[in-house]
Amino acid sequence: MDKASIRHRSLGCVLLVVLLGMQAASAQPPPAKEVMRQKLAHAQAVLGAVVTSDWTALGRESRALMALTKDPAWVALVTPDTRHRTDSFVLALQDLISSADRRNLDDAVMAEVSMNLQCVRCHQLMARQKRGQ
Ligand code: HEC
Repeated sequence: MDKASIRHRSLGCVLLVVLLGMQAASAQPPPAKEVMRQKLAHAQAVLGAVVTSDWTALGRESRALMALTKDPAWVALVTPDTRHRTDSFVLALQDLISSADRRNLDDAVMAEVSMNLQCVRCHQLMARQKRGQ
């Protein structure tokens, strides 16, 4: 093989790597979707922790959800219309964390239901806005 065709081949390899890299990057969900996916996973874990009275997991998962509300991808999603829902969501999370710290099952159940309500309410509000209602 002469030098020119070797150079050609290695150029082809570099291009392939770049293209594959670009494909991998575009396959990644946008930050907002990623934050929502994480939210769902933690919310499911919260339910699991409440029904098994696993206070360590409840504290950990509620704090993880609280941290997500401070994620720039989440903050960017909050509009003046959904601000109220975010505040209620954060309040429910504070109740969850405190019930985990106090190991109070009655409070934990109420806070869990209240948190789930805020998930649905915020999505409902956004769906209505999309339909222009
Ligand atoms: C303050 C408003 C708000 C609250 C509260 C909220 N979400 Fe969302 N959620 C959004 C927005 C905005 C989107 C759309 C994001 C996007 O794709 O641009 C969304 C989308 C989603 C999606 C779909 C993501 C996808 O792949 O399209 C899931 C799942 C989700 N949220 C889960 C939850 C769960 C679980 C909770 C409660 C623990 C919750 N959300 C609470 C605003 C909220």
